[in-house]
Amino acid sequence: MTEALPPAPQFGDPLPVEPAPEVLRFLARRRSTSAVTLAEPGPSPEELDQLLRLATRVPDHGKLSPWRFIVLRGADKARFAEQLEALALSSGDAQAAAKLAKLKAPPLAVAVISAPKPDTPIPEWEQILSAGAVATTLLYATLAMGYGANWITDWYAYDPEAGAILGLKDGERVAAFMLIGTPRESPLERARPDDAGLVSRWRG
Ligand SMILES: Cc1cc2nc3c(=O)[nH]c(=O)nc-3n(C[C@H](O)[C@H](O)[C@H](O)COP(=O)(O)O)c2cc1C
Repeated sequence: MTEALPPAPQFGDPLPVEPAPEVLRFLARRRSTSAVTLAEPGPSPEELDQLLRLATRVPDHGKLSPWRFIVLRGADKARFAEQLEALALSSGDAQAAAKLAKLKAPPLAVAVISAPKPDTPIPEWEQILSAGAVATTLLYATLAMGYGANWITDWYAYDPEAGAILGLKDGERVAAFMLIGTPRESPLERARPDDAGLVSRWRG
């Protein structure tokens, strides 16, 4: 990282809205990188701490923090991938095993876990949306730090046995496996939606 982050604001600090043209420029051109192009180096432990701190600065109705992270790196990530591979092959699913190439390539994976809180008036839907906001912010912060990142889910985000290997608790779901490293090649722009077809104006 080129510049240190400012210290986290303290509760009650004034935070005036300020234009951030560099953020707008970044948003206009940022792109995810393909997971299989990601290699060392990944973020240092200190950089990862910063990324996770930034990722949790999201709208969160009721201030419930209905999300958490599971960090997979190095030998631990390799062991996780091995166990998923054994699971896929135990059911004879060679295609599922092959899909693990994306998880194996990068030096770092961060599982963003949606962990909605029961017994609260805040709808579960809103808590899940907040987990999506965490994953998006993590993606953008990682790219802004100069690393490549790819938000994937794939079968192991949905398979209950894979969830048990990951350590999911009751009611939790994987919002993202954020695969992170240094891209060996630049991504190319992908097809983008035509905004005009997505927007209508309500006139009553
Ligand atoms: C919830 C979610 C799950 C995704 N899962 C996968 C996946 O399993 N495999 C995949 O190839 N892309 C997946 N994608 C899409 C990739 O992140 C894709 O590369 C991304 O849409 C690129 O867009 P960007 O360049 O605008 O960031 C997923 C996207 C989202 C939002």
